Amino acid sequence: MTTTGQGLRRTRLSLREIWDSSIGKKVAVAISGAILIVYLILHMVGNLNALYGAGGSGGAREDNYAEWLRTFGQPLLPRATFLWVVRAILLTALIVHVTGVVQLRRRAAKARPEHRAKRIGRSVSSRTMMLTGTLLLAFIIFHILQFTTLTIDVTPLHSGEVYANLYYAFHKWYFVVIYVAAVIAVGYHLRHAVWSLMQTLGYDRPSRNQTIRTAATGLSVLLTVGFAVIPLAFITGVLGHP
Ligand code: HEM
Repeated sequence: MTTTGQGLRRTRLSLREIWDSSIGKKVAVAISGAILIVYLILHMVGNLNALYGAGGSGGAREDNYAEWLRTFGQPLLPRATFLWVVRAILLTALIVHVTGVVQLRRRAAKARPEHRAKRIGRSVSSRTMMLTGTLLLAFIIFHILQFTTLTIDVTPLHSGEVYANLYYAFHKWYFVVIYVAAVIAVGYHLRHAVWSLMQTLGYDRPSRNQTIRTAATGLSVLLTVGFAVIPLAFITGVLGHP
């Protein structure tokens, strides 16, 4: 056994070495995926504030919530620090997740070019991971350009007026279709992602696999319905004018 500092250093893996190994990449994809899932749950719950409606003189609860995200930590921290920290974590997680998945797939394709044949017998959500993942990536870019940077301003968009922005956007049928389709893709992607993440992190056991699968399906349905209810409530007139 080496007791020198150099020897000890040699036994410790660097981040680079972990990332270069397939199992290291899988764990990085799983952890970054888990971070994105936590964000999705919080985002869905936050969005549900829109269900309180346009509000009275105090304004819409959705707008107050958006403002709270920006003022959180004040006056200790400058305005929007918390929001930017969350954004930095999300962007890092997304880059690690996508890069890891792409590199793992390239490796698998090189190792066994016939691997596509092994798709038979896998569930729809498992077989469509790359498709739903790519669609979600495109959706996230479009979504940020619409509601965060307010660049895609087909309908009236104003900074800080989140409820009104949603109201006008979700009175266009095509935005409702895009958002509902995107959150169905989220559901399919998550169903397999949760199962796969539990396997990578070593939590799968024959005795609890059925429970994990049921929980993964339950979470996916909950997120899809929780997100979809907002555009549907606007277009059906359940949520009123701002
Ligand atoms: C019907 C479904 C959804 C609605 C109504 C919705 C609504 C919104 C709104 C209004 C904002 C801007 C918030 C603000 O300015 O404070 C936002 C930001 C965002 N949403 Fe969604 N969202 C939905 C689904 C999703 C999904 C499925 C994802 C991810 C796959 C997602 C990811 C994001 C991200 C990354 C941001 C940017 C956060 C930031 O940095 O400000 N959203 N969303």
